[in-house]
Formats: sequence, C-alpha cells, structure tokens
Amino acid sequence: MTQLPGLLDTEAIRKDFPVLDRLVHDGKKLVYLDNAATSQKPRQVLDALSEYYERHNANVHRGVHVLAEEATAMYEGARDKVAEFVNAPSRDEVIFTKNASESLNLVANMLGWADEPYRVDHETEIVITEMEHHSNIVPWQLLAQRTGAKLKWFGLTDDGRLDLSDINEVITEKTKIVSFVLVSNILGTVNPVEAIVRRAQEVGALVCIDASQAAPHMPLDVQALQADFVAFTGHKMCGPTGIGVLWGRQELLEDLPPFLGGGEMIETVSMHSSTYAPAPHKFEAGTPPVAQAVGLGAAIDYLNAIGMDKILAHEHALTEYAVQRLQQVPDLKIIGPTTAEDRGAAISFTLGDIHPHDVGQVLDEQGIAVRVGHHCARPVCLRYGIPATTRASFYLYSTPAEIDALVEGLEHVRNFFG
Ligand code: ALA
Repeated sequence: MTQLPGLLDTEAIRKDFPVLDRLVHDGKKLVYLDNAATSQKPRQVLDALSEYYERHNANVHRGVHVLAEEATAMYEGARDKVAEFVNAPSRDEVIFTKNASESLNLVANMLGWADEPYRVDHETEIVITEMEHHSNIVPWQLLAQRTGAKLKWFGLTDDGRLDLSDINEVITEKTKIVSFVLVSNILGTVNPVEAIVRRAQEVGALVCIDASQAAPHMPLDVQALQADFVAFTGHKMCGPTGIGVLWGRQELLEDLPPFLGGGEMIETVSMHSSTYAPAPHKFEAGTPPVAQAVGLGAAIDYLNAIGMDKILAHEHALTEYAVQRLQQVPDLKIIGPTTAEDRGAAISFTLGDIHPHDVGQVLDEQGIAVRVGHHCARPVCLRYGIPATTRASFYLYSTPAEIDALVEGLEHVRNFFG
C-alpha cells in the first residue's frame, strides 16, 4: 500500500462514512472522487439530523414552547460554530443561506439596492475573474445589466493561474466590488488573495471571496483574508445540502439593504412601510434551513475534531501524488497548475481526444466516480479551447489506493478507445 507523509488515518475515518462501503455496478468497490461537487456525510452528521427531527423539530425565533426554544438554541448554536470556524469577530456576521450561490447573489443584490457609498451604477465597475464558477459570474452580469455598471475580469495564464499583470488597469478608482474565487473548482488553483485585496483596498473597492472549495479543505480565517464578504456552502464540507453561509463585515451588514423580504427579517411592519431586524436576521427572511444548519454545526465539530490543518496536509500529500501519477498517463494533460504548492485537491484533465463524458462513463463502469463537463465554469473551457474536462477531487477520506485505481481506470479507458 502506498504510504505518503502527512496522511490521515483514513481506515478509521472511512468507518464514519457509511456510503463509502457501497458497492456499485455488480459488486465494484465505490471510488468516490467527486468531492468538489459534494462531499459524503459522516454518521455524526446523519445522527445530528435525525436527532434534531426526532426530538427537537420546531420553527425558530417564534414559539415560546420547549421545542421552539430548543430548535432556536440549536440553530443559533450552529451560527456560533460557523463564526468560530471562520474566525469571525462576531456571530452576527454569519448569515445562513441555502448555498454559496445564494450567498453570492445576496451580495450582488445588497449592492444592487444600496445607496452611496456602495451604490453600483453606470459609472462604476465590477471585477471578477475568468476562473469563476457560474455562481460568481451570473449574479454580477445581472447586476451590471440592471445598473449599467461595467463588468471586468482578470484573464488566465496558460498554466491555469490568474493573470494579474494588468491589475492596476483591471481594478481602478471606478471599481466598487472585486469578487473572486479562493480555490478554483475546475483548475484547482489557489489564488493570491493578498495581492488582489491590497489593490482593491487602495481604490476603496469591496472584496467578496468565494470560498466554496476552500472552507472544506483548509483553515479559513475571514479576518486574515481581509475580505468584506466570504461565501461558502455546507454540503461540500460534510454537511447537508440546503445550507450555505455568507460572512460579511458587521458595519456593511448594518448599512446594506436586505434582499429578500418576509417573516423574521423585520422589526415592525405596517401597510405603508417596514423597518428591519439587525443583521444577520435582516438577511434571513422566512423559515430558515434549521435542520441543515444543525447538520452543518455537526459537520464543523467533526472537521474540527480531526483538525483543518491535518486535512489540508492530507489532501496536499494526495494531490502531489495524484499530479505525479496522472502525468505518467500517456496523452493526459492536466488543466491547471501542475505543482501541488498552489493548488487544491481538484484536478481537471483531458485524455487525448477522448471526450470527457466517455472517460467518465468508462470510469463509472469500474466504480470510479468523477465529474465531467465544464464544471459550471464554462469560460475556463473556452479559454483553453476544450469542450470539457474530467475532474477527480479528493477529501479527508480519500486514499492513495483510490488514486491508483483512477490511474488504472484511465489505462482501461485508453485501451477501450484504442
Ligand atoms: N460547484 C460544484 C462543482 O464544482 C457543483 O462540481
């Protein structure tokens, strides 16, 4: 068995994840390498969800009865856990949403309805990058269309990194917001946050970071990032689907207007007008995803017990091994950085002229689950002149043996297609 320095005790960890024991396609062992799309859930999270529904379920912030109080304490307790997990200065800076897409749309819409000094209009500019997930492109396109603001972006270098050579021309005095991904879901690139934030701060622009592929895999410190908003999602970090997070700086959350209106986000309502509750409730209209937040809290407990620095080291070792092994497969080309230093554990590649959908299907027949397509980051495929990629992505329970299985599976794909 391949041993690498820094690996976690995956034998013990895998026992927590019932689905990893699944056999697929007539008894083949499941090799789950689609973690960038969604992670599997440990028993501890599944138990927290059933315990919540079996013993405590009620609507939050509304009732005076015992279940309502328990449910509220559990929901707000999950907020405390998230705040601590990302080193937020205040729990009131943590807004629960349904996913990272909703978090990013929320930021775009807060700014879309804002007055000066945050107002986005035809004289202002919005900056993103060419490696964004569609969820960090489309909301800004919509905002630009609505306000007349100009949408600009950083391009990509041939080796899958951001081209910041024209940073002073891309981020200018007119820039109101710079929104970019911390770790690319398709290229795996870890972006140089500091350089971008420094330039944004020079011109007084707000900074929003999409940390969807970072929060599950590395320690995340919103204060160290010096961003104004940080978005991520629960289902990629061992939590359930239907729960996302937007962290925002307190004074911004106080100043910026709400986006969704409804119950629980108000202070008073008359037929003529309303006043709003303080953040975070101002941004959480309606019955929130209570069970999902509780599940996310349990996921955070689980990850913390293992240690985010240890998870990062584990994935780093696996990524280094995978990059090296994949590069030995004839005709395989990694799309993205080929050094493990500034990349995360999602590796995209092409295999000669075999279409990624065919690669994915033949791998699946061997029990190996990868994602194929444009990964909701189509501009990246356009940039590199490819229709799609095959992507393998690892997590804390992934093993070197699974990488060996992938490499073997790819040999099989090559033989299959001659
Ligand atoms: N954003 C997820 C992915 O990259 C769904 O697969």
